[in-house]
Formats: sequence, C-alpha cells, structure tokens
Amino acid sequence: MNELPPVLVTRRLAPGVVERLTANLPATVHDSDQPMDRADLLAAVRGRRALITTLDDRVDAELLDAAGPDLAVVANHAVGHHNIDLAACAERGIPVTNTPGVLTAATADMAWALLLAATRRLGEGERLLRSGEPWAWTPNFLLGVELTGTPLGVLGMGRIGQAVARRARGFDMPVRYHNRNPLAPEQADGAEWLPLEQLLSTSPVLVVTCPLSAETRHLLDARRLALLPPGAVVVSMTAGVVDEEALAAALASGALFAAAVDNFEHEPAVPPALLAQERAVLAPHLGSATVRTRQAMGDLAVDNVLAVLAGKDPITPVVRR
Ligand code: GLV
Repeated sequence: MNELPPVLVTRRLAPGVVERLTANLPATVHDSDQPMDRADLLAAVRGRRALITTLDDRVDAELLDAAGPDLAVVANHAVGHHNIDLAACAERGIPVTNTPGVLTAATADMAWALLLAATRRLGEGERLLRSGEPWAWTPNFLLGVELTGTPLGVLGMGRIGQAVARRARGFDMPVRYHNRNPLAPEQADGAEWLPLEQLLSTSPVLVVTCPLSAETRHLLDARRLALLPPGAVVVSMTAGVVDEEALAAALASGALFAAAVDNFEHEPAVPPALLAQERAVLAPHLGSATVRTRQAMGDLAVDNVLAVLAGKDPITPVVRR
C-alpha cells in the first residue's frame, strides 16, 4: 500500500538532517531553497502527522484545518515563531516547537560582527576599495567609534541577549539591558536593568535581540530612536522590532552614527531607504548561518518530531499539547 509519509519538511535542510529523520520515519521533503507556494503547502500538509516548517511558512487556522486531525506537531526550524498562530495551534491541542539554545552562540557572534562592522565602517571601506576609487590613509580617514569601554545597551536579554552581553566583557563594556522583567542576578551577570526609555537615552551602542511579537513590533519607532544619544549605533538582530524606515531616516539625518540590520521585516525585500545609507551594514539574515548551527537546528527540529510522534513530550515546546 502506498501510504502518505507522516512528516512533511517544507525546505531543504542541512546535509544529513533529513536522513536522520527518514531513518526513523518516512517524510516528504520540499527539497528546494525556495519556500513552498501557499497552495502547494496547503495541499501537501493534508493528512500529515508532523510538519517541519521555516519562518517563510505561515502556520494558521487555514493550514491547520487543511492538515486535518492527524497533525500532532509543528516543529519550526527557527528560534522565532512569528510565522505561527500559536493560539490556533493551542486550540487544536497541537504542540509547536522551535530551536532555542542551539543558535545562541552563532547569533551573538553575528551581532558582534555587525557591531564591529558598523562602528568601524567596514562596509564603507570595502565598497571604497572595490570601487577602484583612489584612496589614501590619512589621520582622519574613515574614523569610527571605539567600542572598548563604551556602555552597551541590550534590548531583549533572553539567551541571545545574554550571550551578546557576555562577549562585551572582552571589550570592557559595562552592560545595561531592558526586558519586561529584570533577570535574576546570576543570569544578569552584572548587567543593569533599566526602563526602556532610560536604556535608550543612555546607550551609545544598542543591540536589539528581543523576539518579534505584537508588543515588540516597531517598538523602536522614530520617537524612541530619537531618544538614543547623538551619534549612537544600533544593531538589529530581529526583523520588525526596529522600524526600518525610521532607522534609515535617523541615519540620513546624522542622528545615528551607524546601524546594522541582520534581518528584514519583508524579506527578501530590503528598504531602498536603508540601501541608500552608507552607514548601514546590511546582512541577509545570517544570524544562525554557520554549518554547525544549521545542523543543530535541523537535528533539534527532527528530535522534536521524533519525540512527539513516539508519544513523548516535545523537547523545546513553544506550545504544549
Ligand atoms: C531567525 O532566524 C530565527 O531563527 O528565529
């Protein structure tokens, strides 16, 4: 009999990940670097017991209904889950999992890569060399902002924010942060909690790592960006939290010294206003893009599926049954 494989994987994953899954359970894999069309996705989910999805797949009531009553788990291949209607999954008793922890180090490293690139004007320097324009070292050539000893503000002190803060020790940077709730002292590890507006007004360098949610969407709008000290540098690691147009305007006016953005609200579109800013370092959603981390994310998504389909608790649930 030709039964439908119980698992649908909506995207090509890191090498070996699907093989680990299919050694245990048959799966249908959309083996492509492009997301599935909505219509194809709705057709493909029908009758499945598990879905491994990415941030490009909208998992909402329509999709859950299209999947039908056998669906037992949605495993998102991301730490974020703004593509998923969690309430709709909870109503139907379908656990949702994500991939926390395994991408923390890679993403914190990337925040630092962007912080250094923005403060030291690496993008501008590289573009200048590649342009073939004449250039010369001068005492005032492409001067940047020095990080050592500068206070670091972290907006969103979850796992990634804490990892960004730990890396600041090597730069002797005092760390302040804002979270809905202050962390326990052992987690805060010397970082000082401040109310949001106070954090902004005292952060010459700000890294944004809070997850996107209804409360955090455009949390850093034009008004709040204007609270940053003159010449501040902003690094955005979560799409949608910083208003991209407002960020571009703050760069254009010279209010900010520089900014860096790792992922965008309407990917793959990048706002032309940001592209026009020399002082914007723009990365194509590379936060977790290391060989080791993508492997670990894939493995964790697979392990969540295998656990739930074996009748066990999900390993990293966002929504429990
Ligand atoms: C972002 O890329 C995520 O993993 O949520």
